[in-house]
Amino acid sequence: MSVETSKTGWKGIVLAGGAGSRLHPVTLAASKQMLPVYDKPMIYYPIATLMLGGIRDILIISTPTDLPRFKELLGDGARIGCQFEYVAQEAPRGLPEAFILGADFIGSDGVTLILGDNLFYGDMQFFRNALARHKGGTVFGYPVQDPERYGVVEFDETGKVLSIEEKPTAPKSRYAIPGLYCFDNRVIDVAKNLRPSDRGELEIVDVIQRYLDWEELRVEKMARGIAWLDTGTPQSLLEAANFVATIEHRQGFKIACLEEIALRKGMINRKQFIHLSEELSKSAYGGYLEMVLRDLDG
Ligand code: TTP
Repeated sequence: MSVETSKTGWKGIVLAGGAGSRLHPVTLAASKQMLPVYDKPMIYYPIATLMLGGIRDILIISTPTDLPRFKELLGDGARIGCQFEYVAQEAPRGLPEAFILGADFIGSDGVTLILGDNLFYGDMQFFRNALARHKGGTVFGYPVQDPERYGVVEFDETGKVLSIEEKPTAPKSRYAIPGLYCFDNRVIDVAKNLRPSDRGELEIVDVIQRYLDWEELRVEKMARGIAWLDTGTPQSLLEAANFVATIEHRQGFKIACLEEIALRKGMINRKQFIHLSEELSKSAYGGYLEMVLRDLDG
């Protein structure tokens, strides 16, 4: 596995395992993160978020059963200017296990963890702000109507975190913490030293708490123009699909088209892009790639 430092100093991990029990029976024999969100597999959306932050080195973690299908879908990433690696998680033992399973992959870099069923849409500046800091940890704050259902972050006017609470009955703010986290390299040791909680899992809130204890935890507020959707229940999956369809139909631009992001961010050149669009030419998705080229040509 690669241990050299990538150019940005950041590695990305997409956590795409889990039981998916809230989507049963759909996910009894299929991976949640392989299900379509309108016109592309769910995992495209978190990968797109990482790529929009400029992260090219990405580790995909999934179950031993599903991992081969992700490899088949995404390959080594070279076709879209990325480097994808894969590690199996034997059982859903919690989000921080990603940092333990990914230790070799992370090497000496910082790491962004994104959950495979989280979808972000809008101006990604909040994410790039976090990646511009190389020491400490960053969580994100998203205003919601029902903060008591989430991890909640309280912070001062400078963005320094004052407290975090998991599903509080009396929330100190209405900012929920989405499934996107940035930590410096110490997170590997932090994760290795965690004890499982009462429900038998390593808890991301314990990792976050450690950075808070060190007074090295920041929050990036997500503006109200950002959409954060998760796709873990039949209703939220349908809503996410409808959201994507509505925006794409209205604008004529696709959300989380990995080939387009790779081209626009200079991760692949025009010739490589034309090759990709020819491979997909039988689908509307392939037709879209041809439109992107025409759009760029003005
Ligand atoms: P959850 O939605 O909390 O769990 P789940 O996907 O198993 O679904 P359910 O609650 O319906 O059983 O997980 C959030 C994301 O993180 C999801 O993409 C699955 C992934 N995940 C792992 O890959 N490994 C884990 O150990 C855990 C807890 C989650």
